[in-house]
Parts: sequence; C-alpha cells; structure tokens
Amino acid sequence: MTERAPHQSAAPLAATNPPRAVASATPAPHERPPSAVEVHALTKTYPGGVEAVRGIDFDVEVGEVFGLLGPNGAGKSTTIGMLTTTIRPSSGTARLAGHDVASAPLIARSLSSVVFQEAVVDVGLSGRANLQLHARLWGVGVAVGERRIADLSDGLGLGELLDRPVATYSGGQRRRLEIARALISRPRVLFLDEPTVGLDPLIRHELLDVIADVRRREEMTILLTTHYLEEAERLCDRVAIMHEGEIVALDTPARLLAGLGSEIVEFRVDGDAPAALMRLRSLGLANDDAFAIGARLTIPLRERAAADTIAAIAAADIAPSNLATRTPSLDDVYLRLTGTRIAA
Ligand SMILES: Nc1ncnc2c1ncn2[C@@H]1O[C@H](COP(=O)(O)OP(=O)(O)O)[C@@H](O)[C@H]1O
Ligand SMILES: [Mg+2]
Repeated sequence: MTERAPHQSAAPLAATNPPRAVASATPAPHERPPSAVEVHALTKTYPGGVEAVRGIDFDVEVGEVFGLLGPNGAGKSTTIGMLTTTIRPSSGTARLAGHDVASAPLIARSLSSVVFQEAVVDVGLSGRANLQLHARLWGVGVAVGERRIADLSDGLGLGELLDRPVATYSGGQRRRLEIARALISRPRVLFLDEPTVGLDPLIRHELLDVIADVRRREEMTILLTTHYLEEAERLCDRVAIMHEGEIVALDTPARLLAGLGSEIVEFRVDGDAPAALMRLRSLGLANDDAFAIGARLTIPLRERAAADTIAAIAAADIAPSNLATRTPSLDDVYLRLTGTRIAA
C-alpha cells in the first residue's frame, strides 16, 4: 500500500464532523478571505531519501484553474497527496481555504475532493450505486443526493450509463464517473491528478471539455496535474512547471509563452552546437533567449523576419539541417529551463 491509502476511509470521518467544524473555523468577515490553496516551502522526502518535493510555493485563488505541469517523477502526485492530507509533508505548510492540512486535516479534507490516477469507484456496482454510496459517505441527505446525481449525470454526460455496472464502462466513461463521484460532496477545491492519462486523444478532448464545463457550472477551484502541454494551455488560468520536485516557472500560459516571442526557428547542427550558437549571437541572429540542447538549436525570432533569418543562418557556415519554424510551446519553456523535454 502507498501512503495514499487512508484517503478512501477519509470521507466518513469528515462526514461525522461536518459543516459546524468548518463554520467555526471560518475566518471572521472583516478578514480577507484566504486563497483556496496556499503552499509555502512545502517539502516531501520519502523514507529512503527520495526528495520528491523540494520546497515549493504557490497560491491558488478561489475559482482559479491551476495546473501543475511536469514529466513523470516531477513530484506532482506527491504534492496533491499532501494537499489532500494523504501524504504527510516533511516540512513547510499547505492550507486549504485557510485550514492547515497538518493541524486541521479533517476540515481541510472536508473542503476538497480528489480524482486520483488510480480508479476508486467500485466496478461491481452501477454508476448510480457508486454515486449514492459516496453521497452517503459524505453525509449528503438522500433527496439532495438524488438531485446532485441527476445534475451531475447531465453535466458529465452519464445519462443512460448510470444504471450499468461500471465494469462495462470505457476508460473515458469511468473517468467521468470518477469526476461525478468527486463532485457529490460539493467540494470547494477539486484536485484532478492526470485526469486524461491513458485515454485516447478523442476521449481526452471530450474530457477536457467536461472539465472546463464543470468549472463554469460549479464555480469551484480546480487544481490539476498533467504532463500534457496542450491540456495545461487549454484549461489552466495559471501553470506551475515542475521539475525534480521544484517549481521552475509559474505564470499564465500566455505569459510563459510570450517569454519566447511569437515564432521560433529550430534546426540541428553537425558539429559543436554551443559554438554554432555563439556564432549566431555574434552575427546578431540569436539573443540570450536562444538555447542549444544536444545538437539542436532553438532560436526565438523576436522582431526578426523569418525568411531573412533563415537565409542568414544558412549563410552562416554552421551547416544547419532539419530547419523549421513554429510557434513556441510550453515544452520550449520547460526545455529552456531544464534542458529536457516534458513530452517525448
Ligand atoms: N511512496 C513513495 N515512496 C518512495 N518514493 C516515492 C513514493 N511515491 C513517489 N515516489 C518518488 O517521488 C518522486 C515523485 O513522484 P510523484 O510525486 O509520483 O511524481 P509525478 O506525479 O510528477 O509523476 C519520484 O521519484 C517517485 O519515484
Ligand atoms: Mg503522478
């Protein structure tokens, strides 16, 4: 069992200690309402010494969709685990709506829901029975629960699936049920850990629409992790790019991309790539924002015209090959900061 296991038994605890506890700990009206999520100097070192999260800071505002973007092993799931009280932080603090996950875990837990990478719905039951079960676990009254199940099944397109055993669902259908399950308790913060991983591209796109729609309808704060660049770009108001347990960049996708201008030119060289880059810089064809990784050079064009620059590069005696221009992606932002790619 991983350190995550206790979460499945978490709902009943929260439900036996319900809204009163939340209300009594809610800040006085004159205070500025806390951010939905506040993370400060948070670290996690697993037994054995793996430093999975190495001092991260970020806030997520109420109503924001915030993405943790990074490759496998970056520390995304560990971060979600700490925010959902299933993984104990080694140091630092994390708060949900002002409630510390370490000192007030039951309250913090009662405010959020999480869809993990692994499924938690019971495949032997129907979708409806799963939702009813979770409504009960969270202390949602029967009538209210039935209304929410009807709403959620509309919103998430579960309709006629609802009375079939979950074992007959496709991957995408099961993921939608997982999200409905997480929304039954009306969380203030929804955590989605790699919500579309393992789904085929068409279903992934559908699910992204579903998530965008949930955000519009439920007005909740969403924190999701992903290693898909376009997912972060499409869904998130802001993105924190994670690399080896640290946040290496944090901003809106537009501002992260704007750092590389509107177009880049990319090519390979045969010989010494750093030397080729220096030569292009000395010719005024590249700035400090250009970078070389292996044999590949990536050069933001900035205000230079593409055709002129390409002609000048071709004439610069560095033997470029596979030359192409394209718009920058978050992968370029990551590549520039870390020297590796998020996506293969
Ligand atoms: N229970 C655990 N015990 C030891 N190491 C772990 C455990 N869970 C994750 N790790 C390690 O912590 C690092 C971050 O993992 P994780 O948070 O799952 O990253 P991500 O979700 O970004 O892929 C990885 O090196 C992983 O192998
Ligand atoms: Mg993960």
